[in-house]
Amino acid sequence: MKLWGGRFSKQAAKILDEFNASLPFDKELYIEDIEGSIAHSQMLAKQGIITNEDAKKIKEGLLKIKKEIENNEFKWDISDEDIHMAIEKRLIELIGDTGKKLHTARSRNDQVAVDFRRWVLKRNLDFSKKIKELIEVFVNIAKENINTIMPGMTHLQHAQPISFAYHMLAYASMFKRDYERFMESYKRNNKNPLGCAALAGTPHPIDRNETTKALGFDEPSVNCLDTVSDRDFALEILFNISMLMMHASRISEELVLWSTSEFAFITLSDEYSTGSSIMPQKKNPDVPELIRGKTGRAYGNLIALLTVMKGLPLAYNKDTQEDKEGVFDSVKNALISIEILKETLKTMKINKENMYKACKKGHLTATDLADYLVKKGIPFREAHHITGRAVALAESKGVDLSDLSLDELKSIDARIDKDVDLSLENSMNSRKSFGGTAPESVKKQIEYFENFLKEI
Ligand code: ARG
Repeated sequence: MKLWGGRFSKQAAKILDEFNASLPFDKELYIEDIEGSIAHSQMLAKQGIITNEDAKKIKEGLLKIKKEIENNEFKWDISDEDIHMAIEKRLIELIGDTGKKLHTARSRNDQVAVDFRRWVLKRNLDFSKKIKELIEVFVNIAKENINTIMPGMTHLQHAQPISFAYHMLAYASMFKRDYERFMESYKRNNKNPLGCAALAGTPHPIDRNETTKALGFDEPSVNCLDTVSDRDFALEILFNISMLMMHASRISEELVLWSTSEFAFITLSDEYSTGSSIMPQKKNPDVPELIRGKTGRAYGNLIALLTVMKGLPLAYNKDTQEDKEGVFDSVKNALISIEILKETLKTMKINKENMYKACKKGHLTATDLADYLVKKGIPFREAHHITGRAVALAESKGVDLSDLSLDELKSIDARIDKDVDLSLENSMNSRKSFGGTAPESVKKQIEYFENFLKEI
């Protein structure tokens, strides 16, 4: 007999049980379900809706069930439909009629809303912790590489010399925004759904502030009709994960490129590289590739739930049960991705000489020559043109612009004098503007991130 079986005269079809059940995946919520039920029953007793004796028995029963689940002794039965009813049914088996009082002033609609919301809120905190550790790694690498010069690129073409520290801090900036997004989602969604019942509240004299306190929420949600069908918290974490993974995927793409023999800017540690089953010489960057790949899945989970939600009339609809698997999948894959990305970065070798050598191709200091001419009073557009001619001369000689002699430069424009310095070092060191790549500017950025990490 189902817990809701009173008005039915026939057993549910087997295929219905299979189709309808969320138990195979919402088991994941057992802790939140048990904690929610304990908080609910304590509140019912405090309000005189059930006796203290009842509440005590319910709590003991629930804690026993928790142990059974954790010791793998719990008998999962798909015909129980979901984690909420599986636990309630077992409670009634264990403590008898008292167990039947637990569901007073409650519906599975507010029950699933509180369980899933708390699970997601905790994961927001897990992500912020993981992201903090990742930012620390970027900052540590930056500190070691303030003077490591690499080609900064636009369109994947050599553009201007920058430091590897500066490049790492670009990622620290991205992941800082991710950190903030997870924390903001936590704050925004930390509202208690319990006590909303099916959709309209309850005639029982409950106190939602009690369960709010007991479960660590900031306040009770304001409108029950909204609350039982609100899955914004789930969509937010799916979006936050999508954005996080997009950032992780971008650094992954760079790691893949940088570890090619064409770039050879980094060497991935053997611990985080894989081999080929046929080509004995190969060392493959599977880690960043998989992160890049899993990013697609994260987007898919976000779009799937957005699509589930878009046509739902108020309030609860069973469609909503489709909210969980995508979230579980995204959370699991993104947490491991960030962890392994961190380790991959920590253990990679940075090939400074190769980065420097690469800067000798592509006339990276051309802008510096133009800027030099501007300082001599030549309008930027004209300076741009003169520099273009100098680049053409270097190309025709098969050398880098920075290798042209003063005489050669003078042959392009007599105003170029011996105070011209087209070295990579001078180029990088001169970009001292706020947020720029010069060491003094990068040091300030490092300080900024260190302060941020200290405060969070
Ligand atoms: N398993 C359901 C879910 O995950 C729980 C809520 C069911 N409520 C209901 N009235 N059928 O959404």
